[in-house]
Amino acid sequence: RPSNHVTIVEMAPRDGLQNEKRLIDTVSKIELVDLLSECGFERIEVTSFVSPKWVPQLSDAGGVMAGIKRKPGVRYAVLTPNMQGFEAAIAACADEVAIFASASETFSIRNINCSIAESIERFRPVAAASRDRGIPLRGYVSCVVECPYEGAVPPANAASVARQLQELGCYEISLGDTIGRGKPEAVDSMLETVLADLPATMLAGHFHDTSGRALDNIGVALDRGLRVFDAAAGGLGGCPFAPGAKGNIDTAAVQHYLILHGFETGLDEEKLAHAAAFASSLRSVA
Ligand code: HMG
Ligand code: MG
Repeated sequence: RPSNHVTIVEMAPRDGLQNEKRLIDTVSKIELVDLLSECGFERIEVTSFVSPKWVPQLSDAGGVMAGIKRKPGVRYAVLTPNMQGFEAAIAACADEVAIFASASETFSIRNINCSIAESIERFRPVAAASRDRGIPLRGYVSCVVECPYEGAVPPANAASVARQLQELGCYEISLGDTIGRGKPEAVDSMLETVLADLPATMLAGHFHDTSGRALDNIGVALDRGLRVFDAAAGGLGGCPFAPGAKGNIDTAAVQHYLILHGFETGLDEEKLAHAAAFASSLRSVA
């Protein structure tokens, strides 16, 4: 039987801030992570070791990692698109690294400048190095239902990339509705296809909330047995390479939804509200 505990993986410092045009100072990013560390999260995605030319906002990744107060029991995770990023993540003592692929060829090119097949080859040494060092490796599949460039994405494409990430050694694969336009029916059939290959215990849901359907999509995923969801305090987020992508689903909204439906998360709502207010204050006014 699926358990009633749901893990929320906090995304605000990484997915939340990466889309902000105004450069946010390192001290504020550290303060955000430190506030989130008090909320009861098991995992916080702190930053990305990516090219500073591609994502200038996160060019201070090393400084953020060096400045945060690490709370025992919290895993501080980072994105690593290649070996250069992995080496930097190791130097920064990241507890977990994540590789990120796409179910859409065009988004793969726009986001990481290579095809899906090339990205899997590029991830291979990262996976081997993380295995050698005993560092947990997470995988993302973007555009699992909709692509900003290609439109609807066939479920089999999402399933194929998820399987390849699992074969590389990812302990968990986060399925991303990158532009937040996925309808619950589409998410459900995508999950049905992915679940033919991988157990629900290896999957996480990563829903952006552009169309206001992210909670419905979480509901569908819960029914399919998923118990890990990505969310961002204050609903921050978006991807600079996915035009139209809005924020990640707000952590507080996921928390309320889960409690209402009989699940527990271990999060402290008061501290979360405080962290979310600070996260929102970092967002530039549109
Ligand atoms: P490239 O230009 O093909 O890379 O970019 P390259 O290997 O040819 O290197 C070019 C330059 O980048 C070199 O510098 C490298 O040193 C540097 P130069 O010699 O020109 O001065 N470089 C790096 N610098 C720092 N750290 C690195 C690194 N790698 C190369 N790791 C690359 C390929 C993957 C690097 C680039 O496309 C990139 O950084 N992309 C990142 C895109 C990104 O961060 N997107 C957002 C995250 S994904 C997302 O948001 C979706 C998700 O939330 C799930 C969902 O919602 O679906 C996860
Ligand atoms: Mg995202």
